[in-house]
Amino acid sequence: MNILFATTEFEGLVKVGGLADFSSSLPRALARRGQQLRVLLPYYGGIRGLDDAPVVAALPGGCLREWCPGPRGLRVWLVDQPHWRARGADPYARPGDGAWPDDAGAFSGFCRIAAWLAGDRLGLGWRADVVHANDWPTALAPVWLMLERVPAATVFTIHNLACQGVFPAGSGAALGLPSWLFHPEALEYWGQWSFLKGGLVFADRLTTVSPSYAAEIRTQAFGEGLDGLLRARAGDLDGIVNGIDEAAWNPLRDPVLAAPFGPRRLGGRAGCRAALLDELGFAADDNTAIAAMVGRVQTQKGIDELLLALPRLMELPLAVVVLGSGDARLERGLSEAARRYPQRFRAALRYDEGLGRRLFSGADLLLMPSRFEPCGLTQLYAMRYGCIPVARAVGGLRDTITDATSAALDAGEATGILYADGSPAGLVAAARRALELRAQPERWQRVQDTGMRQRHGWQAGAEAYQRVYQAALAKKGTVPFFVDVL
Ligand code: ADP
Ligand code: GLC
Repeated sequence: MNILFATTEFEGLVKVGGLADFSSSLPRALARRGQQLRVLLPYYGGIRGLDDAPVVAALPGGCLREWCPGPRGLRVWLVDQPHWRARGADPYARPGDGAWPDDAGAFSGFCRIAAWLAGDRLGLGWRADVVHANDWPTALAPVWLMLERVPAATVFTIHNLACQGVFPAGSGAALGLPSWLFHPEALEYWGQWSFLKGGLVFADRLTTVSPSYAAEIRTQAFGEGLDGLLRARAGDLDGIVNGIDEAAWNPLRDPVLAAPFGPRRLGGRAGCRAALLDELGFAADDNTAIAAMVGRVQTQKGIDELLLALPRLMELPLAVVVLGSGDARLERGLSEAARRYPQRFRAALRYDEGLGRRLFSGADLLLMPSRFEPCGLTQLYAMRYGCIPVARAVGGLRDTITDATSAALDAGEATGILYADGSPAGLVAAARRALELRAQPERWQRVQDTGMRQRHGWQAGAEAYQRVYQAALAKKGTVPFFVDVL
């Protein structure tokens, strides 16, 4: 099958969050299964080292470059145009200044290029059977396929329903879209243009990144105003848990770690913990648990809950490290906390892949008080590195972590602590449970070991996506959803 995979992040080239991990690991897994993948990505100014990538087609104001990172069957197509080169490390935010003013036109144009490539309008001799788009920036791909009359089937994956790509009513010209699409059953959303609705209404099949999130987004509490539409499309929506690249995330062979370790060979982990304490300048003894948080500093991740819970957490035998950057107000709160609790709290307000890995390998706990979590990858990396997640029971967290109830502990199935009460008190109670478990070393190590043995590669996920592509192709021949309602 020929699959055009449209995305705005790719591990190793440009990364804000888990979309980068997803966009490099799923296409690789599909290519290894014999599919032909073309990953379409903007060539941002922050991408280094690919200026020699050959030009394979001309584009308005620029060109398309091709890069073959392997495996066979996978090619990355880079849309090289001046407005993408103007963007640096963060493709969504201008340094210190919110969104880019040309977002509407830039991302709509990118989706239109996806349609041209899918229909081989640029003469590359390759045609897509399926176009797989991801999150709001590529959500107009199914719309442009329809407008350009390209017959490929379309799949749209929701990684985060809260980010919708909404632009003022007057943006029609910038978007290049006909005004009839500004309709409540199409792209109109409370008087504005919504990219996300483009994907949700026009794609043949929808997916999101865990079964629990697939159910949650059909409720008012998690639906971000789109739950009605998602209920209407429930029959076309699958929840597929993300896989991880198990070769890239392997504590037996991770060059960043102080010592290698693995299931039943946990010895090296003590060395990683000691090295981490040194690195952080913590004088914690073995009785003090180290809890890490790694991720975007946003309310989604429950950073505000953590700050509210901190005074009570600091009464426990616990040291806390937060690695991440994002919202300025929350970052200030973290810096203040670091000043208030110099012995037991650290805030590393930056993106640092190496420190992330050292935290997963040396910390005892990973805190994830997320308000919502479509899938979450950090808990998967943490479990693989013997770090036990303490997570709110939402979305992908409840689908990937088995709570340490006494039954699960006895059965040897527990992999972490899940809690339902999404308040600061709930987080403190969950941390207490984790510390009680840690005080029972045999049980604790069993939970670590069980977590490390979990298989979270892409095997099952890639198969599931292939089934979704087949379903999208089968649907293509039928009357599209939107024809009923327009
Ligand atoms: P989200 O996509 O919502 O940000 P995920 O858990 O799916 O959350 O993915 C986040 C990815 O980004 C993981 O690979 C995580 O390790 C990485 N990450 C996020 N922030 C940082 C940071 N400050 N330093 C290192 N890695 C980070
Ligand atoms: C989103 C979600 C996260 C998910 C990631 C990759 O950014 O917030 O939960 O793991 O996408 O699908």
